[in-house]
Amino acid sequence: PVLVVDYGAQYAQLIARRVREANVYSEIVPHTLTTEQILAKKPAAIILSGGPSSVYADGAPRVGADLFEAGVPVFGICYGFQAMANALGGTVARTGLREYGATDATATAGAKSILAGIPDHQNVWMSHGDAVSSAPEGFEVLASTAGAPVAAFANEAKRLFGVQWHPEVKHSNFGQKVLENFLFEGAGLKPDWTTGNIVEEQVQRIREQVGTGRAICGLSGGVDSAVAAALVQRAIGDQLTCVFVNHGLLREGEAEQVEKDFVAATGAKLYVADEQERFLSALEGVTDPETKRKIIGREFIRAFEAAEAAIMAEAAETGEPVRFLVQGTLYPDVVESGGGEGAANIKSHHNVGGLPEDMQFELIEPLRTLFKDEVRAVGAQLGLPAEIVQRQPFPGPGLGIRIIGAVNEERLELLRKADAIARAELTAAGLDNDVWQMPVVLLADVRSVGVQGDGRTYGHPIVLRPVSSEDAMTADWSRLPYDLLARVSNRITNEVDGVNRVVLDVTSKPPGTIEWE
Ligand code: XMP
Repeated sequence: PVLVVDYGAQYAQLIARRVREANVYSEIVPHTLTTEQILAKKPAAIILSGGPSSVYADGAPRVGADLFEAGVPVFGICYGFQAMANALGGTVARTGLREYGATDATATAGAKSILAGIPDHQNVWMSHGDAVSSAPEGFEVLASTAGAPVAAFANEAKRLFGVQWHPEVKHSNFGQKVLENFLFEGAGLKPDWTTGNIVEEQVQRIREQVGTGRAICGLSGGVDSAVAAALVQRAIGDQLTCVFVNHGLLREGEAEQVEKDFVAATGAKLYVADEQERFLSALEGVTDPETKRKIIGREFIRAFEAAEAAIMAEAAETGEPVRFLVQGTLYPDVVESGGGEGAANIKSHHNVGGLPEDMQFELIEPLRTLFKDEVRAVGAQLGLPAEIVQRQPFPGPGLGIRIIGAVNEERLELLRKADAIARAELTAAGLDNDVWQMPVVLLADVRSVGVQGDGRTYGHPIVLRPVSSEDAMTADWSRLPYDLLARVSNRITNEVDGVNRVVLDVTSKPPGTIEWE
């Protein structure tokens, strides 16, 4: 792999993604690894990320000079660039000139290397205080900026390169080109990391892990569990049983989508636990959001355990016990919980709604090296329909937290209709990809006066909550076209009995969360 050494920036993940966008496999490793440990991973190339430190700060992470003697191509970015200069005998100066944001970088006449194919003046994204003032011996200066006399350098013979700016952020206009120049020209790598290869490799690996054993997998209706299940099904066929708990809090067509579309696309063996009764009776009369969430979480575990027990009993009869549990853990989860070394499994349990810690399964996590967009690509490669693969996020507790007030079947039915209309119109307008998600919320305890036909109505409001977001941590309300909003409002008030008003939520996050509960 290409190893991205993380110097404590949020940029490391972004760098790893950009490398993969160039169809080269990359992994993130912490900067606390020794040179020996890094080299033991047999990296095809190494990228040193940016970080918040100054090389002058006490305890600033260092790079051992021996890393540059191993013959492995290295690319230093921002802090990584300075640490590299420092380790190799260049000078890192406190220029007193800070550069943040868009900056003009000027190429040195005649010097190209990793800046080949890029205009002599390019807009780059900077974020630094110190600057490299003289390059190490044997290095050629490739570019400079107002605040960084040495903004990029190269030692072609030793295959060592670096830039002061952040090529991984989109604001650096030719960032991806610089990165690809390093990967393909500088390091001589081939762009052979493709979804086809991922599938083949994972199928092989899962077969080796599972042998003749049996596995189960919880399906949530979300992208990750669907793709993980499809991948494992591809590898071991009927040795896998998928479990889908229908808690009755799903949107229109969702249960059918799992039962029909998923099975049709994968041929997976599906165990549907129809648990609508269980959830509805447990939720009866409950209005407090956190209480609802806890009840749904608890009942989910019970429902899953009941399903698991039934499958185990059946498996015991055939003599092959269920030993494996498939989880849709993604790479960001792994990285965030400690770089994949050691106990990274705690978080993955969330993917099936919080399985008990004492469950004695061996985990199969076929997506643990992948980012979300790669998971979608693998899903498409496996033949999963776009409705599953391109799905917008939907909370595990489902419509239970989109009914403000107590949950009952009548209210669920009403919300399902309103939600289906809003979704259909959004899709028809071609705007699915313009919003992150669009919760539709029923204010079940609020009523307002309306007039419909010749009569007075006293009905419930429906709230539309379209948001745009990068990662759901922050969000803004989506500026959907008025005519689309008008169509949705018309249709919902006309077609859904009991609703006489549609309102638009124009709150960003913060202060509002995306969901209302
Ligand atoms: P909030 O409401 O916290 O939501 O702004 C952030 C994102 O998380 C989703 N969400 C959940 N997803 N289980 C989930 O799987 C949950 O309990 C849950 N609660 C919120 C929400 O839809 C949004 O995408």
